[in-house]
Amino acid sequence: MADKDGAKASKDFGVGVPPPEQGGFPVKGAGHLDWGMQHRLARMFDPVSGNTVMLAFDHGYIMGPTSGLERLDLVIPPLAGHVNVLMGTRGAFKTCVPPTVQKPIVLRGTYDTSVLFEDMSVGGGIAVDMANAVAMDASAVAVQTFVGAPGEKNSLELLARTVDAGTAAGVPTLGVVAVGKDMARTEEFFLLATRLLAENGAHVVKSYYCDGFERVTAACPVPIVIAGGKKLPEADALAMAYRAIAEGARGVDMGRNIFQAEDPAAMAQAVGQVVHHGFTATEAFTFYQDTKA
Ligand code: 5RP
Repeated sequence: MADKDGAKASKDFGVGVPPPEQGGFPVKGAGHLDWGMQHRLARMFDPVSGNTVMLAFDHGYIMGPTSGLERLDLVIPPLAGHVNVLMGTRGAFKTCVPPTVQKPIVLRGTYDTSVLFEDMSVGGGIAVDMANAVAMDASAVAVQTFVGAPGEKNSLELLARTVDAGTAAGVPTLGVVAVGKDMARTEEFFLLATRLLAENGAHVVKSYYCDGFERVTAACPVPIVIAGGKKLPEADALAMAYRAIAEGARGVDMGRNIFQAEDPAAMAQAVGQVVHHGFTATEAFTFYQDTKA
């Protein structure tokens, strides 16, 4: 207990010094959020660049042991130091990522049907509720959505309920735009899907790069991070990341193009040079070649 006898007299009240600026929170669309939400978002986005490199390794939740992710315990911890955020499932974190890893985590909050099921776009349900996400110190919870597909209604309901629960707990929601087998990856589709997720409360949207991407990012009132998609040659993946950042993405949430690269650690760092340090695709590819083992 503080001892009132002998306490130093208070005298430095900073009279005349204006209070700290309360506005100007750097994450797009997040200026009016509560302190806990902003605190979590501020962990995810670099304070200088305003951008983020998220490593997605949640593929096993529908695909089983994907190439490059056969041993999560061997692959993910060494990459953690090269990215800003780790995105995975509860089971992967609890078994394969030591809690001493000082990185914000985005938890996949919904389950979906596996690749053996006839149509993944029917969607799934809640995999981790908000109390458990808070218990894992999640910086955000990711919800898969299926705009324009059979699972649209169910997945938007899951998104809305996650945003409600997350708002009460101070946990942001990452809305993920899924692209079905038969869905055109057009500017029109991504304009609709990204805006729809943001207007239904997502605080960050994960989507795909497309032609007309600068209009997609302009029309979306929250940050967009791009998925990498299927493995590309490293130079092409870096070129896609460069175009996405140049056209308004606030980062990447990349999986296969990092962990399936010939040198995943060098690739994660090269992506970081594009996302945070203004490297061109060519500069980043040179960096990758110089860095890889
Ligand atoms: C699927 C996801 C996955 O996490 C993500 O797309 C995987 O990353 P990548 O496509 O870069 O391998 O959210 O909707």
